[in-house]
Amino acid sequence: MYLSKEEERILNGEFGEGKRKALEILLAIGKIYDADRLMPIKSAHISGVSYNNIGDAGLDFLREFSVEAKVSVKATLNPGGVDPSRWQEMGIDEDFTRKQMEVVNVFRRMGVETTLTCTPYLVGNTPSKGDHIAWGESSAVAYANSVLGAMTNRESGISALAAAIIGKTPRYGMHVKEERVPKVRVKLKVKLREPSDFGALGYIISKKIGGEVPWIEGIKNAGIEELKMLSASIATYTGLPIFHIPGITAEWRDFDVPREVVEIDDIDMKDAYEYLSESFDGIDLVWIGCPHTTVEELRKIARLLEGKSVKTELWITTSRRVRQEAEKLGYIKIIGGAGAKVICDTCVVVAPLKGKFKTLVTNSAKACYYCRGVNNFMVKVANLEKCIEAALKGIWIE
Ligand code: F3S
Repeated sequence: MYLSKEEERILNGEFGEGKRKALEILLAIGKIYDADRLMPIKSAHISGVSYNNIGDAGLDFLREFSVEAKVSVKATLNPGGVDPSRWQEMGIDEDFTRKQMEVVNVFRRMGVETTLTCTPYLVGNTPSKGDHIAWGESSAVAYANSVLGAMTNRESGISALAAAIIGKTPRYGMHVKEERVPKVRVKLKVKLREPSDFGALGYIISKKIGGEVPWIEGIKNAGIEELKMLSASIATYTGLPIFHIPGITAEWRDFDVPREVVEIDDIDMKDAYEYLSESFDGIDLVWIGCPHTTVEELRKIARLLEGKSVKTELWITTSRRVRQEAEKLGYIKIIGGAGAKVICDTCVVVAPLKGKFKTLVTNSAKACYYCRGVNNFMVKVANLEKCIEAALKGIWIE
């Protein structure tokens, strides 16, 4: 890999041990992926924040790193394992909460903005088309590449942190335009009506075309809510960091329409919902907010809950910034008045909730995947209205 004079000096330790270590990490990754050089980035988004996932070993590593290392570009943080103001209501112990706070403080000391959200693009980390960035969190990576047209590989927590410290990332993969080319034309013969349909679409695409970059035709309108749901689901089920939708995503004019065609119809959509939904009646938890909700989603939830009371746990996960905006608009009071919880800084997947609930209803295909696999929950996926109805009734009625 080509190294600039300055990079050689960093590697010689002239700028401290923290920078030297961070550069070594980037060079090791660059070597694996055959990168030709490092390139400057506009921002980083760092995953691997939950103490539930990183444990004491991860915390010790970060502590050591933080002694000398500081980030040199805008860097935001993915959710941690607990909302520190609601740990008791979440059934999480004090010791875990203390350790999680320590993890967050270590990142803060390094200069990372402690946004604690998987939707950094809703809280000020908003790169433009063509910007090179180094983001972790697969749903945010797919959103950044596809919707914003920024360029990022799917970074791990440690590689995103190293990139934030050096302000550069190895040039390979999604940083190269040719790697972003759509390969299969996906024609939708079914109308997508709800964000949850966009989540189901990610699952269908994984079944029909696997890991080929899709060019998805037949979507006329899609807002942030729909696109974040599709980004999360495509990244989860196909592992892809990018998709294109003509007329909607950032780079659709930059590529030719692929020749290979695959169609998706209403039977595929019905099959997807069947796959995503298991059979049960009693509901322990209804979860909205994977990825973290927008203010608009909180508005809709407040409208559906106004003057009513939930009969089961209803958790809505979002960023602290979005919660504050929704609070000013009165939505949080209405939602809280109905007995639901608006939880910040974490989510049902990265919090230590394994085995704490048996059955879950959600509007997110990504949540379905991880709550089954990581938390051992039985899961149903439905649209937002049905999820709220389920929370109000406390049981599932077909
Ligand atoms: Fe975000 Fe957690 Fe879902 S980090 S994308 S809410 S699994």
